[in-house]
Order: sequence, then structure tokens, then C-alpha cells
Amino acid sequence: MTTATVSPNVAIQPATAVLPDQRQALAGRPLAAVTGAEIQAPLIHGGHVRYANLDYGASAPALSVVSAYLNEILPFYASVHRGAGYASQISTSVYENARAIVREFVNGRPDDSVIFTRNTTDSLNLLAGCLPVTGGRPDGDVLYLDIEHHANLLPWQGVPHRSIVAADTVAGTVDAVRAELQQGGVSLLAVTGASNVTGEILPVRTLAELAHNHGARIVVDAAQLAPHRRINITADDVDYIAFSGHKLYAPFGSGVLVGRPDWLDAGTPHLAGGGAVKEARLDGVSWATGPARHEGGSPNVLGAATLARATQVIAGLDPDRWHAHEAAIRSYLVDGLREIDGVTVHQIFRDTDTDTIGVVNFSVEGYDAGLVAAYLSAEHGVGLRDGRFCAHPLLKRLGLPSGSLRASFGVGSRLEDAQRLLAGIRDLRSKGLGWDYVVDAGRWVPANDNRTYPHWAPNTPGTAGAAPCIDD
Ligand code: ALA
Repeated sequence: MTTATVSPNVAIQPATAVLPDQRQALAGRPLAAVTGAEIQAPLIHGGHVRYANLDYGASAPALSVVSAYLNEILPFYASVHRGAGYASQISTSVYENARAIVREFVNGRPDDSVIFTRNTTDSLNLLAGCLPVTGGRPDGDVLYLDIEHHANLLPWQGVPHRSIVAADTVAGTVDAVRAELQQGGVSLLAVTGASNVTGEILPVRTLAELAHNHGARIVVDAAQLAPHRRINITADDVDYIAFSGHKLYAPFGSGVLVGRPDWLDAGTPHLAGGGAVKEARLDGVSWATGPARHEGGSPNVLGAATLARATQVIAGLDPDRWHAHEAAIRSYLVDGLREIDGVTVHQIFRDTDTDTIGVVNFSVEGYDAGLVAAYLSAEHGVGLRDGRFCAHPLLKRLGLPSGSLRASFGVGSRLEDAQRLLAGIRDLRSKGLGWDYVVDAGRWVPANDNRTYPHWAPNTPGTAGAAPCIDD
């Protein structure tokens, strides 16, 4: 397996202890090659600059290895489970093998189901349809924290549920979960592995133990965690895990749910249709068990295949080097932002030693977050996300009801991306905006923007950057 590692060999320090003079050596270059790393972004004042992609947390670029793999398998793209032809057989083999690869990536148990979905949201909705019911009544509540993004919050609102407020420390949050579990009646603890807003990591193993001690199961939303940390559901005793290919360096929009088969085999089929049945009649059906039960219709073979290939590349990274690369960029960014007057870096927990993935959340005094994002894009070629990050309750409790900014990065990032962001924010504080901006279709955009997209992308001013979860 090729991992396309391009960072230099340097002494690795623990991720939490990256010294300023080590940062260039650790993160001066990407850790792995990604497709699109050198695309040029047009600036509002004219000219182009290398696009500094600091929006990995929303969708990460495809690993170059994954893009090459896609080109290799694309000629064989055909129906899955539905054809005797050569290409069909190959596609079926690739699709089913992708399950085995993903199982290995999470160190799943031999009998765990590996179900391909559209994304993490889809995976968690699927699980919400499979919660156990006895005598027509749900066996218990789903328990979740107020720091979740909507994918791990809204699916549970349609079933019996309880939410609790995370404390301002990780230990306090664990205590709050324990106290609620002690009340009894919880069937499932749904928790994020890492906050999509701040990047702070939750102690999954501890929470799994707590859940099990109180007769509940645990599902981990690993949409943000999986692209940044090794996953081991057997060692952590996690019952279900969900994550997305599009955040894990794989294109084509697929997600996955891995976990214990009993609830999944008895649950409501997620997508009724061809392939999900043993036998269909005009007025009835015998549903299949296993992944097929939830994967009605022709599956997204390329999405599953690229997701699986990406997991192999990620699993091949040296964990120390991987974490040190990311920690070098993060510490540089956090230190730099904190030095700028009027800039605040946000976090959920006041613990200073909370392990954190490649996400930095901040705001700039006196400027709407959307305006700062539009300015960074138009005047500096820096892409990041602004708004409420599909985590409205958390943004409210952080005192950011109208949103903030999020820089997120990963294996294709380099220190220069963070330097570009810091330079843009310093310029904003010292010189102000260098262009006029207006609100169009709910988004800040440069006024009189004459830049054009490539000929194959329709240029519709005011809609290109429209972000979900900004407006109610
Ligand atoms: N949850 C995704 C994000 O944080 C969409 O950007």
C-alpha cells in the first residue's frame, strides 16, 4: 500500500508538546499528498494564489492515492450484486471487500455489521430506526450531550431521548453522564468522538464503560475523529461507530455504520427497496438481515471503495508523526490567534490538556464571522467555515448565537496554510477590509465581484458559498 508520505523525517515529539522551533520541520510540508493541493484561487484585487484549504472538517480533499485508485477501478464500474458480467463481478468484489477493509480499520468484531450509507447523518438515522422495542414500547431512552452536531442530535429527537449539558471540564462531563445513567432507563449513549466545532476529543473508552455498567450501549459519531485518530471499537468496547468518507479523504459521498448486528437485523429497514429483501410479494415482504437489510437500491460502489481505500492509507500513517504534524499546525495557529488583539479562540472545556484534533474555532471582535470568511477567501485565498457548524445548541452555550469561524486541517495541510490565515487576520485588525462586501442571499460576498469560476461551474453570485446551519 502506498501512503504518499511527503513529510521529512524528523524527531517526533508527543503531539501535546510541539515546540515552536519544531513546527516547520513537523508540518512544513503535507504529511500525505491530496488531490487539488495546488489549485489557484482568484483574488478580488486580481491575480491568483494557492488555495489555502482550512476547511477539512466540512469535507477533506481526496488523498492522491485514493484518486489514483478511483481511476484504476472506474473502468470496471458496474452494477453490484446484480450481474454475472465481468465488470459486475469485479464491482461486487470491490464493494464487499470494502466492508472487510472498513471492519479492519475500526478493528471491528467478527460479527459486526458494516453497513454503507450516504454519510454519518444517514448512519445515525439508520441506527435510530433500529432501537430495541419490547411489547411495542422502546426499551429505553437515547442519551446525548448538548455539544453534538445535528447529525448526532436530531435523529434521536424522533425517539425517546434525554439530553444533558456537558460540564466545563471533561471529567465533569463524564460525571454528568454517569449521574444521568444512574437514573436508569437509558438504552443508548450517543456521543461524538471529537467536537466538530472545537475539535476537543471525548474519552470514548471511559464513556463506553460507563454506558455498559448501566445497561446501555454506546454509539460514537466519529465523523471528525476518524480522520484524525486511530479507531479501535473492540479495545474501546464501542457498540456502534459512524463516520463519513467525505471527511476521511474519500470523494463520492459515502458513509458507514459499524456495529453489533442484533439491533440492526431486527430494526426497520433504512431504505426499503431492491436488495433489502429475501422475498417481496405484492402485499408483503420478508426483509433480509445483514447489511443488505438497510442498503436497498443500487449501492454507491465507488463511494464505498474510495472510503475503504482511504482508511487503508490513514491506517498506514505513523501515529506519532501524524499527530505531531497536526499538533504543530494547531499550536502555531492557536498561539498566533491568541496574540492578535480582538481575536478569541473558543473551546468547550477549560481543561488545558484536552486532546484536540486539527480544528481551531475563533472569532474576531467587531466583525461578523461570515464577513471575515468572505474577506479571507476574496483577499487571501483562504477557505474556512463560518456559521454555527450545524451545532446550534453548542454555539448558543458558547455565547456565539450568530456563529464563529472554524479553521480545520489534516494530512494534506502545511504550516503555510496557517501562516496565510494569521496574516489575513493580522491585516484585518491593522488595516481593515480591503474591499466592499454586501450580504447576498444570506451570505457576505464581495461587492462587484467580477471573478469567474472554471467554465464547467455555473457562476451564480451569492449562492456559491451558501452554508447550511447559519439561518434558523
Ligand atoms: N458537520 C460538518 C461540519 O462540521 C458538516 O462542517
